[in-house]
Amino acid sequence: MPLRLLRQRTSVKWSTYGPDVLPLWVAEMDCDLAEPIVGAVTRAVQRGDTGYWAGKHLRDAFGEVAAARWGWDVGALSSVAVPNVMSGVVACLDAVVEPGTPVLVASPVYPPLAQYPRQAGYPVHRVALTAAGRLDLAALAEAFGHLPSRGAAPRGAFLLCNPHNPTGVVHTRAELEELGRIARECAVVVIADEIHALVSYEPFTPALSAIREAYALHSASKAFNLVGMNIALLWSADPVPISPAIAHGDQISAIAHTAALRECGPWLDQALSALTNRRRLLTDFIRREAPIIGFAPPQATYLAWLDLAAASGARGERISATVLRERAGLALTSGTAFGSANHVRLNFATSPAILLSALERLASVVA
Ligand SMILES: Cc1ncc(COP(=O)(O)O)c(C=O)c1O
Repeated sequence: MPLRLLRQRTSVKWSTYGPDVLPLWVAEMDCDLAEPIVGAVTRAVQRGDTGYWAGKHLRDAFGEVAAARWGWDVGALSSVAVPNVMSGVVACLDAVVEPGTPVLVASPVYPPLAQYPRQAGYPVHRVALTAAGRLDLAALAEAFGHLPSRGAAPRGAFLLCNPHNPTGVVHTRAELEELGRIARECAVVVIADEIHALVSYEPFTPALSAIREAYALHSASKAFNLVGMNIALLWSADPVPISPAIAHGDQISAIAHTAALRECGPWLDQALSALTNRRRLLTDFIRREAPIIGFAPPQATYLAWLDLAAASGARGERISATVLRERAGLALTSGTAFGSANHVRLNFATSPAILLSALERLASVVA
């Protein structure tokens, strides 16, 4: 999609900075919506179908995709709709652990996974990922083991990001099974945020297929660029008694997500192939023009986690997201809120022309 049209968008990605800044920060995609989504939403609006959502279709549509893409049978599982993934994570916590129960995250991590539980009154502990950005299962076992007993109630909750944002790591079945084993042993509940699952370049393992007693949140929002028409499903073996104030979906969003899951498989395959090309463009560029930047191509997501620890500007100064924006007109996401001040996160779900222009701006500051 051309820059001129993207600049007409009013979403946060395109309205936060002025016309001299290229925005490759928040996780929105610079693509047209898939035609079946446009058609389904347009027809729904034309027939005035904007009442309360009846709760049908989305669960089945997701089940078909889960079976086809991941061999995951959700038929026997319980599901409940929530307005979005993050409200679902907090509502799930509220339903399955006691107030004040410690919440653990593998850090660096998508900031709201730490912030929202903290704001809801749960003490949050960060357990560092390994240097390769993977779950450090030994460190997690130790952290789980140190949680004080709460009688029959869970001692803690671990918020799994699967695939992991920002490193783009896809956790393996063996890692998930081991995580399940240590969580079970220490009475820790696992809640998985699987919002990026459909944007995987490697085989994806749903947490619930490896950890029977986990809870998992899914949404088509990231894969089909529907964060402005949002809905998510919370999946679990047994029903989760989440607050009725949260347990509902929005009709138009449900129609959009159902059309995405039912009719847009080929669109998604094309998008994944385009993203694979962008990932290659980005990887080649960094290796060739800015090898000082630490970078491992993500196994999932359209987010690149760039390590600027070794990079410095012309006057030897540290390069941050603010420096890149002010000096090169490039808006990336600062790593600070994720838990790593040396990193920035770049969203490569854009055209090759915009991506190349952004990379040239980046290299002009760090090289
Ligand atoms: C890992 C992760 N979880 C949740 C969200 C936000 O989801 P929602 O808007 O459905 O709360 C994002 C958005 O980028 C994300 O990357």
